Amino acid sequence: MVHNASLIIHSARQLVTCASAGSVKRKDALKDVGLIENGAVVITDGLITSVGHTPDILSVYSADQMIDATSKVICPGFVDCHTHAVYAGDRVHEFEQRIAGATYMEILAAGGGILNTMQATRDTSQEDLTELASARLDTMLRLGTTSVEIKTGYGLDTATELKMLRVIEALAERCAVDIVPTFLGAHAVPPEYKSRAREYTELVAKEMLPQAAAWYKESVFAKRDHVFSVDVFCEDGAFDVEQSKHVLEAGQALGMSIKAHVDEFVSLGGLSLAVGLHALSVDHLDASRTAEINILAQSDTIGVVMPAVNFHLGSTHFANARGMIDAGVALALATDLNPGSAPCFSMPLILALACRYQKMLPAEALNASTINAAYAIGMGDSVGSIEVGKQADILILNTPDYRHLMYELGRNLVETVIKRGKII
Ligand code: NIG
Ligand code: FE
Repeated sequence: MVHNASLIIHSARQLVTCASAGSVKRKDALKDVGLIENGAVVITDGLITSVGHTPDILSVYSADQMIDATSKVICPGFVDCHTHAVYAGDRVHEFEQRIAGATYMEILAAGGGILNTMQATRDTSQEDLTELASARLDTMLRLGTTSVEIKTGYGLDTATELKMLRVIEALAERCAVDIVPTFLGAHAVPPEYKSRAREYTELVAKEMLPQAAAWYKESVFAKRDHVFSVDVFCEDGAFDVEQSKHVLEAGQALGMSIKAHVDEFVSLGGLSLAVGLHALSVDHLDASRTAEINILAQSDTIGVVMPAVNFHLGSTHFANARGMIDAGVALALATDLNPGSAPCFSMPLILALACRYQKMLPAEALNASTINAAYAIGMGDSVGSIEVGKQADILILNTPDYRHLMYELGRNLVETVIKRGKII
């Protein structure tokens, strides 16, 4: 008997599943992309209902819509698990200042950087911020990103942080991509609290986080069962370990998951702090010490590295992804899209950088930007791989070999994006 489905994509030269059988990938599992030659995927009502060899699939299934992927690759949509995609303005003049020798943290200390974007974001309406971010998400979708985490953190006052949350919700209601929200009220010390970081974290803990948690309960994200995390920028010139702990514990007490920006420039101990609090992920890890990497490797926390930051800041130093994978860290990749340290929309560019500068193999980079990234935002059960029962978030690449995603530079190989079974 032949079963009827909504959509079948068949005859792919390579079907790259990134299948993980329900767990995050580490070590050798990261080298396995679950490749099926002459592969086919069956989609019914937005979900994946069968995966296998084309002749086997076509003997059992027919569909209203058939896509022939001869000479092409089918792979999971990318999950961009760390972005600051909601912001106004740009920082092109700081780009020039840095070319002339200023550093990222010097510019922040002088009242620019994140504080520059804070002012522009405070001055922009909810509607305009939504328009700006929506256009960014469209660009990302065309480059293959089908799920995105988005942080607040450019308000740095209660009203604007809440406005950013409403923008993220408006985006989730109108954009095709899945969105997961994160609260980053402790992204920088705002001018109103200059030299009073500890007092600012009181405001975050006592006023902002309770309001954010109340907002989440009524939001579309709670209905969709998407996690809501609290995040902090633990760094010299931002928040120290004590202050970071204060913020993260306050969010945790309200039922939120934990994420943390740690070791982007210096290692303060934020990595061990966040792992000790059972963080969902720890992000950046550029300056992390081996002893703390080993602690991370023994934990359930995902390590997220973002090589566009190092690249954009003109650095030749990158997070030691190779060492982390070999130590057993569950590693994920992300863009960190933001106007200051990484104006990067493209997951394929991230893959290209990770392979060259972080010595990740193409297979490791693909697993890190799909299935492991899905786990980093609490979506490992529903997206990030091509497995029966998961959402049909699938890319068709105009190349016979998935490794061309990393090998080629600057050409968009993403020919077709399928989100929840719908061709975008
Ligand atoms: O992840 N480092 C802190 N936060 C962002 C940058 C934000 C910005 O510069 O606007 C990051 O790199
Ligand atoms: Fe970031």
